Amino acid sequence: MRTSSIWKAALAGAALLHVAATAHAQGEAKVDEGALKYRQSLMEAVGGDMAALTNILKYGLTVPGAAQVHAEGLASHAKLTTVAFERKVTAGPTDAEPAIWEKPDEFAQSVQKFEAETAKLVDVAKNGDLAALGAQVKATGKSCGSCHDSFRKPKEESFKRKGGGS
Ligand code: HEC
Repeated sequence: MRTSSIWKAALAGAALLHVAATAHAQGEAKVDEGALKYRQSLMEAVGGDMAALTNILKYGLTVPGAAQVHAEGLASHAKLTTVAFERKVTAGPTDAEPAIWEKPDEFAQSVQKFEAETAKLVDVAKNGDLAALGAQVKATGKSCGSCHDSFRKPKEESFKRKGGGS
């Protein structure tokens, strides 16, 4: 009798542990999902501001203050890039390359370049010189591209092509 109740208690304990472990794993999975969605939303915001600037230049739009607003958006979002990629999440619907976390110094350099170009973009946008703005939008675009080349999966390998995720 005595041994069997010990076993029951042990089994109950094991069951509890199992539940706790599952809950923990689910919690971790949620944090991963959140980190992944967040960094993609950040990139979408950055993509939106770049598209807006490109359209302003391409169509010669004269929306007062717009170039500055989009440049400032880019510069402040650039400052969130480091934290947005802090958590290593390589599984699921993502185009992030594991190199982000394997070569943190190179990734940090890419982020720095991005921050520097977008800060410059704000100065140029305030200035109102469209030719200078065009050149700096290009330079900023290069900083996006060089990070994507090293740290984002190429289009052909994108999860979006494979039909997974949103
Ligand atoms: C320091 C690196 C880095 C810089 C700089 C960077 N990106 Fe990205 N970007 C990434 C990575 C990595 C991903 C893939 C994220 C994922 O799928 O988890 C990405 C994804 C994206 C996406 C797709 C988002 C989605 O919903 O899947 C867009 C759009 C984008 N970037 C635009 C830009 C633009 C425009 C710039 C420059 C103004 C830029 N990025 C600068 C690393 C960078």
